[in-house]
Amino acid sequence: MSRRFIDMRSDTATRPTPAMREAMTRAEVGDDSSGEDPTVNALLERAASMFGKETALFVPTGTQANQIAIKVYTNPGDEIIADPTCHPYRSELGAAALISGVQFSFVDAERGVYSREEAESVHRALAERTPRSAIIWVENTHNAGGGQIFPLEKLKSLRALSLQKGIPLHIDGARIFNAIVASGVSPREWGEQCDSLNFCLSKGLGCPVGSLLLGPKEFIRKAWKCKKFLGGGWRQAGILAAAGLYALENHVERLAEDHENARRFAELTADVPGVRHMYENTPTNIVFLDVSGTNLSAPEISGRLKERGVGFSVFGNSTIRAVTHIDVAREDVDQAAKALAEAVA
Ligand SMILES: Cc1ncc(COP(=O)(O)O)c(C=O)c1O
Repeated sequence: MSRRFIDMRSDTATRPTPAMREAMTRAEVGDDSSGEDPTVNALLERAASMFGKETALFVPTGTQANQIAIKVYTNPGDEIIADPTCHPYRSELGAAALISGVQFSFVDAERGVYSREEAESVHRALAERTPRSAIIWVENTHNAGGGQIFPLEKLKSLRALSLQKGIPLHIDGARIFNAIVASGVSPREWGEQCDSLNFCLSKGLGCPVGSLLLGPKEFIRKAWKCKKFLGGGWRQAGILAAAGLYALENHVERLAEDHENARRFAELTADVPGVRHMYENTPTNIVFLDVSGTNLSAPEISGRLKERGVGFSVFGNSTIRAVTHIDVAREDVDQAAKALAEAVA
């Protein structure tokens, strides 16, 4: 029998479980582009009420959710206050410039976390020649920050600034359920600290496709139009929404296992020669390794790991990322750590 590939490249590698597929086959569907898909509508209601938001929009990807939020809040020439490793800046092909004609104004951040004072220091008072600060952007958990959770108290002070200056605060919560499970801070508490947020179904929650964008009715009304002109006006999407409803019911609490497995992986790899952990702790499901102390590049190590049936993702020449998720068991983590030690030996 061929060996199963241990895919720790990303939590997007998850595949729907048999029970999720079963829920998908039973979904009632309609034309979502006309708001007539009952399963999508049930998902929108469920997601919005969980986070205490008025309403929601179901979109194909986290990237589309982010870009729609940016488009709704900005005019060309505006600025987004954000940390320099946020997903829309690093990994969305410059779409904020392409679609909305905006630029980023960067704060000093530690693993994606920044303070009110930092945001204030880059905020621009309206003047004739300055761009307008149009969004305060928070990523929670933070991907490039090794799954860091944005501390609620810091977020509250950013929220106070957003209200004081009248600048909307958006949370890219692609992995907010990891933050919820690891911190014990409820969806509603996170929801209270922002105008809008999005979360992905297709990462740790284990669905094949989909993200939710949540916010006030007027915001979502505009967002719906953007989704349409970006070509996201899908039809019988209830099949995908059924997976989302199933995941919100069955796949949230189990994220704690992924966090446990990620910490175990970090412990098991702590003493691998030449490999250094980029971050001192593992708050959720992401581990970054600096491999510059080995005599191999990250792509070379990744190649050797693939031969041993393990996938990690490569971030540049000397950095590797390992992510735990529903398809990675405790034994897989043990095997992956062993494979890494062998690969760099
Ligand atoms: C923090 C964050 N935001 C947004 C996205 C984009 O999600 P998608 O791949 O569904 O476009 C990702 C994907 O990894 C992410 O990590």
